[in-house]
Amino acid sequence: MTKTLIIANWKMNPSGLKEAKSIFESLVASLKNRKNLELVICPPSIFISDLSKLYNLTTSKSAGLFLGAQNCFWEQEGAYTGEISPAMLKKIGCSYVIIGHSERRHWLGETDEMINQKLVASLEAKLKVILCTGEDRNEEVGLVMERQVRAALRGVSRTRIKDIVITYEPIWAVGTDDPCLPEEALKSTLLIRKILTQLYDRATADQTEIIYGGSVEGSNAADYIKKSGMNGLLLGRASLKINEVLKIIKNIELLESFKK
Ligand code: PGA
Repeated sequence: MTKTLIIANWKMNPSGLKEAKSIFESLVASLKNRKNLELVICPPSIFISDLSKLYNLTTSKSAGLFLGAQNCFWEQEGAYTGEISPAMLKKIGCSYVIIGHSERRHWLGETDEMINQKLVASLEAKLKVILCTGEDRNEEVGLVMERQVRAALRGVSRTRIKDIVITYEPIWAVGTDDPCLPEEALKSTLLIRKILTQLYDRATADQTEIIYGGSVEGSNAADYIKKSGMNGLLLGRASLKINEVLKIIKNIELLESFKK
């Protein structure tokens, strides 16, 4: 848990493979010689196969670079028009999958139950899960976290928790330029660890990676690591802007150098 995890969620961008390759190459270059970082690039699924061919994935993993998907279905194969299974993602080179992003909960009507099914199926396919949680502006954060975390982890044993990264992303902070205060994010980190302690035990709760997402940029990134006890960040818009990514990495590294 010593490495800082950065998830680059490209969402439905960019529109073509050429640009996707160029952003991918720049992100990979930004990671060079950064031993304390792990970068998971989550492009639209249509690009994953091509991007995975650009690099020797075995060497990339030891350099801290991974590919992830933004969604999956809860069955591994069958008559499910338009869906992509966790097993398929694993086969094309994915190591991670994002589950339960607020945009999917909102636009696609994903329920807590569906998210739980997707999470279980992803673990079965040996993918690591980036589980997104967070409240809307008019909701009580404590109640939402209790509901979402408990529902998503239903039936998941303590030994599987190491393959799950929990993301706290208040919906009102996603895509809005209205980031959550690091002090508020800290409260949610503690809340998630409390729920995990109740569900499993203290050691499991302490070891679980918890990251923050929602309007992260160069100027605020390090604060979430320093003041919120987060193990990493999920970047949306910033993940497509290489200068912003470089600023984020630089500020996190600066923080690390003070710790030494
Ligand atoms: P944003 O998106 O960084 O553009 O706010 C975050 C996210 O994908 O959750």
